[in-house]
Amino acid sequence: MHTILLSSLLLSVVLASALPTLDSEKDLKKTGFGLGQSHHGLTLLKWYAKTCLDKNEKSLCNPVAGAYGFHWYENRDKLLPGLNGKKNTTAYYTLGNLRSPHAEQLPCYVRKDYNCTQPQSNQDRVLVEYTKVNKMISNIFISEHYNKKKTYRIGLKLLAFLKKLVSRFYIKI
Ligand SMILES: *[C@@H]1O[C@H](CO)[C@@H](O)[C@H](O)[C@H]1NC(C)=O
Ligand SMILES: *[C@@H]1O[C@H](CO)[C@@H](O)[C@H](O)[C@H]1NC(C)=O
Repeated sequence: MHTILLSSLLLSVVLASALPTLDSEKDLKKTGFGLGQSHHGLTLLKWYAKTCLDKNEKSLCNPVAGAYGFHWYENRDKLLPGLNGKKNTTAYYTLGNLRSPHAEQLPCYVRKDYNCTQPQSNQDRVLVEYTKVNKMISNIFISEHYNKKKTYRIGLKLLAFLKKLVSRFYIKI
């Protein structure tokens, strides 16, 4: 069982390799993701890592049901790696549009800089690859409004770091 999980994880890494993988806090900072004025991407990412995943990357939130404003991401422009070889219960879901239904379930500190006159305050997204049958998250991406040049895969080391952060007010990286 472990071997199967590990090899499917490795396979995911290979398939996702077209996008850069961020492995450390430093890598994340270098991208500039969420760092501009009014951006919510970093608090969103950190909140997601701490709240929606158990230690084995099983999802504690239900993207299919639209929790926290999650909705299906069709990947029509092939921003993310194709899911062709995978079972059809695996799909991408996107989180972070503060105008989506149920986005008000996100904590206030994630939403606080939203200002409808400032588009950048609603641009950042966390995207996940979710398999409904076992509730596993096999890939996590961040994206500044689906711009391929500003889309990155979160590596496991960085994910572990994010999960361990104590203060909800991150982000002195
Ligand atoms: C998966 O594909 C099968 C066969 O094409 C179809 O019957 C089934 O409804 C699909 N399941 C989902 C969850 O899309
Ligand atoms: C939203 O941003 C505008 C400037 O773009 C500013 O004048 C306004 O006070 C802001 N609103 C809030 C609620 O912060």
